[in-house]
Amino acid sequence: MYIVFEGIDGAGKSTQIQLLKQWLEDNGFRVETLVEPTDSEVGKLIRKILQRPDATTDNVQKTLGLLFAADRMLIMDKLEDKSKIIISDRSFISSLAYQEPVDWIEVLNKYAKKPDLLVLLDLDVKKSVARTSGEDTFENEEFLIGVKDNYLKLAKNYTSEIIDANNGVNKVSSDIKKVIAPYLGICPDCIQ
Ligand code: TYD
Repeated sequence: MYIVFEGIDGAGKSTQIQLLKQWLEDNGFRVETLVEPTDSEVGKLIRKILQRPDATTDNVQKTLGLLFAADRMLIMDKLEDKSKIIISDRSFISSLAYQEPVDWIEVLNKYAKKPDLLVLLDLDVKKSVARTSGEDTFENEEFLIGVKDNYLKLAKNYTSEIIDANNGVNKVSSDIKKVIAPYLGICPDCIQ
């Protein structure tokens, strides 16, 4: 199973993925985690470009769209491992939510694997801005309002679960376990 976590910056994806991984392993599953952008040469270039003040402008966004798609193709083979549950921190769905124009981003990501399940951590934009460093140009309120809206629309196109990420870490974690349990045949009453 390929599970993808998505959400605006500061939604708590990495913390929640670690908690979910531990719980799934405690339940006897083998789990591998991935993060996009990756630590490849392309991923390193992406992280530099994300800090440019003009990162949200049209042509830099198109450049990022190309780079994110290239970075992603470098990990596609890892997704073929059927012996494990693969949980990814972001996917091509991030590109659809953050970059434009959507029809072109879709073409660039034609060969990106579609998730079996999308977990969208839905956080208020004001909380996102308060939680992040503001170091990346994307971490600004006006831009993230559009991204959050895009995510809520995109979620309708996939098998997805939307989780309220405004709650505390433990509540969010148990909400995630509750929605994921039925997909994996785990007894819902066994979740704390
Ligand atoms: P993020 O997961 O927030 O990394 P970090 O924990 O280092 O902040 O990802 C970095 C940024 O990249 C984030 O603002 C979302 C953005 N992004 C895109 O715009 N498009 C994409 O396709 C991906 C994967 C990420």
